[in-house]
Formats: sequence, structure tokens, C-alpha cells
Amino acid sequence: MKIIAPSILSADGSKLGEEIIAVEKAGADWIHIDVMDGNFVPNITIGPALISSLRKVTKLPFDVHLMIENPERYIESFSKAGADIITVHVEASNHLHRTVELIKSLGVQAGVSLNPATSLEQVEEIIHYIDLLLIMSVNPGFGGQQFIGTSLVKIARAKKMLEALPRKPLLEVDGGANLKNIGNIAEAGADVIVAGAAVFGTDDYQKTIASLKQAANRS
Ligand code: DX5
Ligand code: ZN
Repeated sequence: MKIIAPSILSADGSKLGEEIIAVEKAGADWIHIDVMDGNFVPNITIGPALISSLRKVTKLPFDVHLMIENPERYIESFSKAGADIITVHVEASNHLHRTVELIKSLGVQAGVSLNPATSLEQVEEIIHYIDLLLIMSVNPGFGGQQFIGTSLVKIARAKKMLEALPRKPLLEVDGGANLKNIGNIAEAGADVIVAGAAVFGTDDYQKTIASLKQAANRS
């Protein structure tokens, strides 16, 4: 079964708690939380304090995607705030192995993410240590962007890389997923699919998530 992780970046910010409860009821598996610093990406979103408040409304795993420079400075804060998975970008951390070990030492699952223009070879050494590999299928910074088509080949290559490992990290895909392409994303090898606008841009979350799951699990 593929994991569907709605991204609250596209939720109604005036009622984030209610939005999370609504997607949980609608069948979401994880809650994807995008943290942006206005430096690594040209946008600013939320920090540990708000995540800590949101932690009270659900028991679903919080999948925290850090799009920030030098993420090692904030790992402890996000762990304390209630993150279950913390993903950092390979392009944003100088000592990625140390950062990954720090995340794991706090009892949190460690993810590493790649921008669309970053080659898979960049994670060849770190994949032995991580719990999750996140392939960006849009340039990070905003919700509602168009899926970059060549990502499908990258996802398939990433899947092969991970399957060769004794302990297989999950493969997550983030950006531009929708009802039309989620089948192909899943077929290429994604285990976890993030969906922001495709969920929160619709009226009936239950119907939308059910359709996304059906399409994703067809392969
Ligand atoms: C983009 C974020 C994504 C975004 C996905 O920088 O990392 O998680 O919210 O949104 P959609 O699914 O709308 O592309
Ligand atoms: Zn994200």
C-alpha cells in the first residue's frame, strides 16, 4: 500500500488544525509539513512552535521536510516539536552524515532530499544510513507547481539503488502529484507520495484521497 502524505502548505492557514483533522478523517497516512527559510528556497513558512501546537490534534506521523540552510542547527527543535521523520536537503548540509546521525540519535527517522537538478550520485554514500529518500519532482518553494516529467526516470533509478541495499529506505516523491500522474509515480517506485494542491485544492478530501490511493495502488 502506498503512503499518501497531504502537504499542509496548500491547506487553509487560518485553520490548520482543522485541516489536519479533516485529512486524517479522509484517509491520509502521514502529514507532510514544509519548512522554508527564505534562504534555501524563496519562501518562508512555519517553524517548530507551530508544529508543536499542531502535534496536539493528530497522532498521524509528521513528515517534516526542511528546506532550510544548515538544518543541523534546528534538528533538536523539530524533534522536540514532534516530528516523526525529518528530511534535510543534500544541497543544504555540509556534513550530511553528521546531520543524519544527529536526527537518528534523537529517535527520529532520517530522510535526505534531492532537488530536481541534483543527481542521484550525490546520495550514493548516505543511502546506507537513511530511513527515507525524497525525490523532489518540482523545484522546492511553492505548492501547486507542475510535475517535472523527467522525474519519473529518476524515481525508477532511485528505486533500483535503494532495492540493492540490505535495509531498504522508503522512497518519497514530492511535487506536482495529482490524479493523472500518481499511477505513474507509484509505478516508477515511490512508496510515499506527497500531495498538496491535489488534496487541499478540492472540496471533498475523502473522495480525493480515496481516488489518489486507488490510482496509486493500481500498479
Ligand atoms: C514544495 C513542497 C511540497 C509542496 C507540494 O516545495 O516541498 O511539499 O507542498 O505541493 P504540490 O503537491 O501542490 O506540488
Ligand atoms: Zn515538501
